[in-house]
Amino acid sequence: MLGVLALAAGLLVFAGTATAVAQAPTEGRPWMNPGLSADTRADLVQAEMTRAEELLLLKGYYGANVKMNWIKPAPAELRPLLPGTAGFVPGIARLGIPPLRETDAGVGIANTNWMRPGDLATAFPSGLSNAATWNPEIAFATGAAIGTEARDRGFNVVLDGAMNLAREPRGGRTFEYAGEDPLLAGLVVGEEIRGIQSEHVISTIKHFALNDQETGRGVLNANIDEAAARESDLLAFEIAIEHGTPGAVMCAYNRVNSVYACENDFLLNRVLKGDWAYAGWVLSDWGGVHSTVAAANGGLDQESASGFDRQEFFDAPLQQAITDGSIAPARLHDMVHRILRTMFAGGLIDHPMVPRNPSAHVEAAEHSAEEGIVLLKNEGALLPLSKTVRWIAVIGGHANLGMLSGGGSSQVLPLGHVSDNEVYVGGGVIVLGNGAKIMPLGREIFDPPSPLAALRRALPGAQIDYADGSDIDAASQLAAQADVAIVFAQQWMTEGEDAPDLSLPGNQNALIAGIAAANPHTIVVLETGGPVTMPWLPHVPAVLEAWYAGNGGATALTRILLGDVNPSGRLPITFPQSESQLPRPQLSDKNSAHRFFDVDYTEGADVGYRWFELRNQQPLFPFGFGLSYTSFAFGNLQVMGGDILTAQIDITNTGTREGSEAVQLYATPPASDRPVAARLVGWTKVRLRAGETQRVTIATEPRLLAHFDRNANLWRISEGDYTITARASAADVRASATVALAERAIKP
Ligand code: BGC
Repeated sequence: MLGVLALAAGLLVFAGTATAVAQAPTEGRPWMNPGLSADTRADLVQAEMTRAEELLLLKGYYGANVKMNWIKPAPAELRPLLPGTAGFVPGIARLGIPPLRETDAGVGIANTNWMRPGDLATAFPSGLSNAATWNPEIAFATGAAIGTEARDRGFNVVLDGAMNLAREPRGGRTFEYAGEDPLLAGLVVGEEIRGIQSEHVISTIKHFALNDQETGRGVLNANIDEAAARESDLLAFEIAIEHGTPGAVMCAYNRVNSVYACENDFLLNRVLKGDWAYAGWVLSDWGGVHSTVAAANGGLDQESASGFDRQEFFDAPLQQAITDGSIAPARLHDMVHRILRTMFAGGLIDHPMVPRNPSAHVEAAEHSAEEGIVLLKNEGALLPLSKTVRWIAVIGGHANLGMLSGGGSSQVLPLGHVSDNEVYVGGGVIVLGNGAKIMPLGREIFDPPSPLAALRRALPGAQIDYADGSDIDAASQLAAQADVAIVFAQQWMTEGEDAPDLSLPGNQNALIAGIAAANPHTIVVLETGGPVTMPWLPHVPAVLEAWYAGNGGATALTRILLGDVNPSGRLPITFPQSESQLPRPQLSDKNSAHRFFDVDYTEGADVGYRWFELRNQQPLFPFGFGLSYTSFAFGNLQVMGGDILTAQIDITNTGTREGSEAVQLYATPPASDRPVAARLVGWTKVRLRAGETQRVTIATEPRLLAHFDRNANLWRISEGDYTITARASAADVRASATVALAERAIKP
């Protein structure tokens, strides 16, 4: 099924290089000695390189440029190596340096770029679902599976680690990211990166920084106060980089405080490479470079897919700038060194790729979906359904086809050949079986198996009928006769465009209202990129947020519906009641006639739940919220000060089923000259048998107790009493304590 000509061709060429590396004698090549440090090895090999070889590493090519006539084609001799890659940087075979073969892999190996027909990969749940697990172990396992699937295909760089902070719930890529909180996003994405890199595959982290909306992403100027950025979007990156040590950072398309991110001295030199002592390299987003000298001196180390840019800035213009001295030799050395040392550190040289049949990881995808799906409402304990239920009406959302996925460069062409009856669909085109036909980007793709099939498999004795929901009356009639109605509602999101608003598109709100009126036992399953509004909520007893759930989604969902899995997902993002509650009720410059425009992040670091708290606004569902089929009690909170503030608390499962609770610790600093909201400073996810009590310990992240002092370039914890609260969500305080902290400064 996966033996694809284009893929195989790429692997063979690559394997030739890889084998040469594996067999290379260390004699005469001291950099091949794994006993030396990555930096020493890089220095040794760089000393042998010609200027032309050094320059080769600083410019990448795009795999599909044969298909897009606006992209400058790669030289003919490289073209056979490119298909199947999102990016390619030639290696230096004579020195045993392999090429960098890059693939997108935000939710699995992205494979729809026209290039690897029939190469199906495991579709994992969306990044937001990953964050909704509040479980770094799941994130690591997902990363390791993605790393393995990348290796299987001969990719040694994955363009994962997407984590722009969710300032814009209508954002087209909010589904790829990890929500609105720097600690949650940083830890979850950091662990996913660590998982990927455990397979000797380099992961990026992206898009650095403040690419928080898609509208005008290539031209917009994100304005934000430095301290606020350090305490929010940048802190998320800082934490993820500390935990995951990604080999590369992808700079973003947009400008930040008037300077393009890929030539932004503040972001790249001062913060990333300076304050954070980042040793990896910075690569550009595809088409994100606007200059040569400003970019190189501003901190960019490698121009990705150079044909995307207006000009190949890191080609002849780079050589010229080196010759005329506008880029110093030390800077050139540093650019190359960063790439080489990361290849050594990441194991790319010591663990060369060996082509093998791509493996599948549906079980890992299922576990992730099981913990990422959030139970939002369950009135009258409608869920879990009884396994003796006789008649279920399944309605809408192409529930006969699969689970919806998000669009754009992260799109996975999912494992599809689940049974001969399974189909998936793209933009109205139904593709049978294993996907012999390739979907272009910009189409809806459904990940098999379908929820309808999964339910039928789990409940062979029940009658389970499907109505597509296009005829509300017909669907309501079906719902009225059944014991239970499950309505699948969807919002398709894609890279490149934001949603116009937070409403479910089309007639779905009317459909849900109609079904709920026809059957009091109505369950709504949402498959959305992020938050949506729910005008029908008072009339619907049960709601599950399944996000984009991937290849394991339908099975996970069915197990939750039937109580084989107790839901434990918690929202990583606030669901507002309406757009009017947001810092920007209108998408920034949606209707602007200006080509260049500003997005003013005047909310500063008060993103999401902090914004809601400061304004005393009640969201539809708060950050951190999620129900369970059991219940939990919190007691005996004790907080210990010191360098790392820790809390201990008893958590008791007071219900009758085993279940997991995400125990969230928030801190409110002492009153200052401006109102300050509580922020998440730590959490733990604990699994408890019915009736069991555990005393859990939660260590906090000191920078989250501090504010950033930009004049001193330090984090400062102010002296005073901090209120520490244990919560079941940002809006559900279960226990509170006060701790006095001494003044303290922390270096960034
Ligand atoms: C996206 C990146 C992606 C790259 C390569 C860009 O358009 O913003 O996230 O890695 O394309 O496909």
